[in-house]
Formats: sequence, structure tokens, C-alpha cells
Amino acid sequence: MSYTVHQFAGDVAAAAKKIEIGGIQAFRAALNDPVRQIVARADLFENAMPRAGNNVAESWFLYFDGDMSIVLFKVPQAPAVQPHDHGIWETLFVYRGKIRHTVYQRVDDGSQPGRAQLMEVDSALLGQGEFALVAPPKDIHGFHAMEDNTYGITVSMGAYKPERLYFDLSAGSYEVRRPRALR
Ligand SMILES: [Fe+2]
Repeated sequence: MSYTVHQFAGDVAAAAKKIEIGGIQAFRAALNDPVRQIVARADLFENAMPRAGNNVAESWFLYFDGDMSIVLFKVPQAPAVQPHDHGIWETLFVYRGKIRHTVYQRVDDGSQPGRAQLMEVDSALLGQGEFALVAPPKDIHGFHAMEDNTYGITVSMGAYKPERLYFDLSAGSYEVRRPRALR
């Protein structure tokens, strides 16, 4: 029997529980094996349901149980997915292709509406089966594909913030957007 999306969802939920004891590093370590196994499935597109994407044009649900969402999406090369926050943890991994992924932390005090300063925390080139994990307070990320036909999968638990911030690094500003999909 091949590893199912349902099994994967259960394994990610179990991995996420490790945050309470071992922090984000424990969560990350526990994600390795489930991500490797689900990426090995070549038929995920056949089991996907179209979804209204927030940042991208092509996006599908692989799983949703009222709490956890697993979303497959085509990652654009340009324009890049602008740095944005989530309010919850999210993991992004590469199903096919390559992604340049950067995590940011906000370093201003938030006192000026519309203005924000971000500091780059981590930037990585992710290949198939490699993943990034963003979680508050470092829950801002931006990314883009490094080659054609790049697909990513995100897993998140709970709802995104109803109003999310999209940052413009060079202008030192942000705008508030209401996502179409809170899941
Ligand atoms: Fe995101």
C-alpha cells in the first residue's frame, strides 16, 4: 500500500504536537520522513480539488478536515510570491521543481501604519522533497520557482489571519489584503 494523503495528514499533526515540547526544531525533524514519503507519490494531481488560491493562479486541495489544510499549487517564477505573513505555522515543500524560499522577521515596532522593516532570517534553494517551516514570530516568507513546472505543497493548521500583510521590501511598506481563501 502506498502512503496516503490521509496518513500524511496524521503524521504532520503528530509532528506539530512536538512544538509544545521540543519547539520548532522538533517539529522540523519529525516532518522529514512524512514529506519524503508523500513527495514520492507521483499521482497527487489526480487526487486534488481546485481551490481559489491567495497568491497563485493554480491551486488545489489535497486534504481538508476543518482544521488542517494541505494544498498543492503551481509556484510562479515571476512575479515572485511577495513576502507575506500568516499568523499560524505553515510548511512549504517542493513536490516537483525548485523553489527559492526566504524567511523574514519584522524588526520595526509596528508604530507606523503601512510601514514595515523586514530582516532576512533564512534563504534557501529548495529541491524536490525539501521543505521550509514558517511559524510566528518568524511567519513571513516570500518565494518563487527557479524552473518551469515547479509545484509546491503547503500544510497549515487552523485559519490564516483574516487580514494578512504583504510586504514591499524595497519600499519599506506593506499593504493589508483579505485572502480569498482562509484555508
Ligand atoms: Fe505563505
